[in-house]
This record gives sequence, structure tokens and C-alpha cells, in this order.
Amino acid sequence: MKRFPDGFTWGVSTSAYQVEGAVDEDGRVPSIWDTFSHTPGKIEGGGTGDVACESYHRWREDVDLVAEVGASAYRFSIAWPRMHDARGVAHYDRLIDALLERGIEPLVTLYHWDLPQALEDEGGWLNRATVERFAEYAARCFDAYGDRVRRWITVNEPWIVGLLGYRLGLHAPGHEDVRQEITAFHHLLLAHGRAMQELPAGCEGGITNALMPHYPYSESPEDVAAARESDGYVNRFFLDGVFKGAYPQDTLELFERVAGPLDFIRDGDLDVIATPSQFLGVNYYSRRVMRAAPDREPYPWEVVPGGAPTTDGGTAGVPMTEAGTEITPASFTDLLVRLQRDYGVPILITENGAVFSEPVHDEQRVQYIHDHLAAVHAAIEQGADVRGYCYWSLLDNFEWALGYAQRFGIVHVDYETLERTVKDSGRYYAQVARANALEGALV
Ligand code: FCB
Repeated sequence: MKRFPDGFTWGVSTSAYQVEGAVDEDGRVPSIWDTFSHTPGKIEGGGTGDVACESYHRWREDVDLVAEVGASAYRFSIAWPRMHDARGVAHYDRLIDALLERGIEPLVTLYHWDLPQALEDEGGWLNRATVERFAEYAARCFDAYGDRVRRWITVNEPWIVGLLGYRLGLHAPGHEDVRQEITAFHHLLLAHGRAMQELPAGCEGGITNALMPHYPYSESPEDVAAARESDGYVNRFFLDGVFKGAYPQDTLELFERVAGPLDFIRDGDLDVIATPSQFLGVNYYSRRVMRAAPDREPYPWEVVPGGAPTTDGGTAGVPMTEAGTEITPASFTDLLVRLQRDYGVPILITENGAVFSEPVHDEQRVQYIHDHLAAVHAAIEQGADVRGYCYWSLLDNFEWALGYAQRFGIVHVDYETLERTVKDSGRYYAQVARANALEGALV
């Protein structure tokens, strides 16, 4: 039996735009995701977040489900576009109170990608002024809920926002420019730091990063260098700034090479970014196996598709989720141990999960959760200070550009009736969370 530390947080995660629906109710203003999802061709299957899981109305039922899957914490995000109206503010008041009544900790994310469209019209994350708008919004949330919410996540996955939203055009706001990508990275990190400066005493805060451990495809110096450079791009840029107060030199050089002078980084910015955080939020989905690709633009490397032999001992035939993501729990352990070694901060796993379409008897997800929790446990045994784990997601929901086809939930959602059904994985999660331990049997 693998026991977790006393007080370990067992959470489930969602985000506002992916579950709430009710996009034009109670004074909510449009966000960049409303605009993007309504642009033809952007979302697989043509879905939008207009209805999603209708959690804005069904929140009581969702709170019951959080309890039913044994969670001691619910990670949800506040929709920035709702905080302009007292009715929106009151919604999260009710949700937070209902969670607390059930003994469930509200773990709140401030920015899970739903930037008000009006701010995008003024340049969005390319405009430094947006950072101040975010700090004001954060302060409003702290004022409203800081008496009851202890742990706050400032920004969710700045790397993904820059990569998919500003360079590849696959997420809102749909830009395609490498200089914009890097500008957005910096401004999102600055936004994190500004929010941390506003955090009331007694609360704890941290950023959530999408982190992917890197492995070179071969021992060749080129592949080793590619893995190191890409690790700077994906991981170290978002960690060193926050926890060391300096961006990694090799990554700054890389960014200057591909995007010109980084004059949007101003004196004093790194001090703001490094405002002490109380924890690091980690979203872990997979690893990256890297090969040098000198002719590729803008970055001279490529990710080797799944199944290739790798220097971390992987062999052909790495299993995949239905989203084509490699399932590699051992690299989760590697990541957590490395974070402890290099940064030494308390870690909160804010997301980990997988797409499997089995509607209710989702054996593969049960296995996935088991294997990833075993990986977390192994990291804790090796000294990683992991304070909790949140499964992504409580509910099947709107998976951004991939629409509704990709199901991550431990609770099934019928998108016709919006009926929720706890999957086998939800029952399994409850068993593990209540025992605070991984026992032998699955379900
Ligand atoms: C993460 C996002 C989350 C969800 C999962 C699958 O990148 O933070 O909203 O889409 O991936």
C-alpha cells in the first residue's frame, strides 16, 4: 500500500469557459474564447462554450459530484468577464460557500484563458497595460473571496497561451507570430507577479505551468543540445523567472535570435515576477523527446513522435491516449524530482489527466490515474514536496480547439441532456482519495 502524506490535497479541476456556459447571462461580457469559438473552422466539430456543461446553473450538482468523487478540493477558475457585474461576483460567492459547507477547499484560478474581448481589442497580452488590468481584477477577486479562499493560482499555463494563442493560432486570440508569442510569455509572467503583489496576508499563491520533461532522442551532441534548448523554451523560462528572479541566459539568447531585441522586458520586471510564491502549480500530461532539426523555423528542433526509442529508456510502442499523447508516468516522477532539486518549492499538481472515450466503464482511465499517482508517490519518496494532486477534469467538457470530442472527465456528461454520470474512474478516485493511499486493487 502506498500512503500519501497527511493532509495531502485530493482535487479535481475545471475552468470557467470549459464548463460554465451561460455566456451572456448576469452581465458577463464577451471573452476572446467567445469570439474565437464562433469563428468558423476554429473548433473541431464547430462547438462553442455557449452551453458547455451549463455549470453556471448546475453548480450545486457539480459540488455534489466533487464530494462524490472523494475530492477535498475543487480547482475552478473565475471568469474575468463575469467580475464586472455584481451578479457574477455573487455566483462565485455561492459556489465557494457551498464547497466550504461540504468541507471542500476552493482552489481558485484567476486566469484560465478567458480574457475579456475588450482588452484584446486594446492589444491583449501584447499590451503591457493588460498586466495592470489583470492586477486590478486579481485585487477585486481577493477582496471578494480572500476571506474564504486560501490558495490562489494566478495564471494557467503561460507557455500554452503563447504557443497556441500567439504563435500557432490554434487557440484564442489566434495570432501567428513568434515575437508575439514571447511578448505574451513575458506579460503573462509579469501578470502573475503583479497579482502576487496584491495577494492578501494569510493567502497563498502560485502560477500553474504546463511542464514537460525533456529527453534527447539520441546521445548525439546535437540532440542533447536540442533537448536542453527546448527545455528552456518550455520549462526553465517559466520557472527561473518566478523562482530565481532571472530568465535563463540560453533561452534569452534563443529568443533574441528568433524574435529580435527583447525590449518589452524592462528593468525591474524580474523583481516583480519573482515576488515570492508559496507553491508551484504543475500541469503534467506528457514528456517531449527531442531531435535537432537545424532547418526548422523558428526553433531548430522537433518533437519525435511517440514510440521511438529514447535516452530515458523508452522503447518502441509507447502507449497513447486517444488524443495521441504519450502515456509516460515515469517521466512524471522525473519531472517532480527535478523540480524539487532545481527549485525546492512546494508543488501542487493542478492538472493531470487523459482522453479516453469509454463512456462510463473507463478502465483505461482508472489505470492511467493509478499509474500517475504511483509516479507521484515515487517522487514524494525521493524527496519531492508534493502537497496535492488535482485530476483534470471533474467533467467531460469543452476541450478548446478540440471541441467536445475529447473526454477527460471522471464524470461523464451527456451533451444532449447535460446529465452527469460518475464513471468508474470517479469511483476509483474516491476510493484512493478517501484512503489517502493507493491500494492494490483497481476499483
Ligand atoms: C490544459 C489546460 C486545460 C485542459 C487540459 C486538457 O492545457 O489547462 O484547460 O484543456 O489541458
